[in-house]
Amino acid sequence: MSGNPESLIRKLQETRSLEEAEFAELIRQRTPESARLLADLAVAERKRLYGNDVFIRGLIEFTNICRNDCLYCGLRRSNTALVRYRLTPEEILSCAEDGYTLGFRTFVLQGGEDGYFTDEVLIPVIREIKKRYPDCAVTLSLGERSRESYQALYDAGADRYLLRHETADRGHYARLHPPGMSFDHRMQCLRELKEIGYQVGCGFMVGSPGQTEKELAKDLKFIETFRPDMCGIGPFIPHHQTPFRDMPAGSAELTCFLLSVIRLMLPAVLLPATTALGTIHPRGREMGILAGANVVMPNLSPRSIRKQYELYDNKICTGEESAQCRGCLETRMESIGYRTVTARGDAVREA
Ligand code: 5AD
Ligand code: FES
Repeated sequence: MSGNPESLIRKLQETRSLEEAEFAELIRQRTPESARLLADLAVAERKRLYGNDVFIRGLIEFTNICRNDCLYCGLRRSNTALVRYRLTPEEILSCAEDGYTLGFRTFVLQGGEDGYFTDEVLIPVIREIKKRYPDCAVTLSLGERSRESYQALYDAGADRYLLRHETADRGHYARLHPPGMSFDHRMQCLRELKEIGYQVGCGFMVGSPGQTEKELAKDLKFIETFRPDMCGIGPFIPHHQTPFRDMPAGSAELTCFLLSVIRLMLPAVLLPATTALGTIHPRGREMGILAGANVVMPNLSPRSIRKQYELYDNKICTGEESAQCRGCLETRMESIGYRTVTARGDAVREA
């Protein structure tokens, strides 16, 4: 008898799967009690595989220049009020150096789709990081590129790639993006990244305009079948210079509920408690960990440009030094009985 949240949660726990309609039902019918049960089961899975360890990733936001015009994003091309920047290869390497000293063993190079960063520019940077810090993983988050480019960056030493699918519903995708952007191409990129051999992360925003339980159920079903190594989800937060400026933000509560669902579905998945979650609620990242997340991504970008990587309004950590963010998260994790660890933090492979 599916329908009541508890029986759906048990089914999810036993089979790691639900029908799309059941995911929608689980979300629609959720209560504080069912969220509690779900979080308890999710945390048990996470503890079984990762104990109390929380992996840290050093995030280097190396360019806020973007050719795209996603309706939700503060970096969109049409936002002419934003002061644009790009770090030089030397500055990126200097961030990595600071990060290594602070104990980071994964560097996430994230940026807008900036035509300056061709393979010719990126390959030496990736090679140099891998040469200087062979014990580190390099994660790229550079949006949509050609298969050849993904392959070349992989061959240069990149280990992982984050490309949120944003929404698994074609119609919804078209409401969030301008006509030039293609749902099919995004999905193709994700498949290619996986085929090449990257550890791949997909993900979506919670509470993006036009999203209902139906779209979320599709996202969950997509994640169930795609089986990403990582999954980034965080609340949508409006940005004042975008067409979605007056739309309501997503909630920490639903984000945490979905983190728990994803943990139960894919027990070994690397699941960050995102900066957006920490922005929407002062203890959002702690809540995310307590819902089943196991990764946090403190900022390693130079402080001088941090405010300019403004995906959404009121983004946290734009005034702090890298060491402060690192320390702050360590304290926050300790406050809830977890510890941040210095490790590459690859996903465990379940037997
Ligand atoms: N609110 C929350 N998340 C956002 N992102 C972009 N704009 C926003 C926003 N307004 C997310 C997208 C993107 C990632 C880098 O940041 O999901 O993939
Ligand atoms: Fe950046 Fe807390 S994590 S200040």
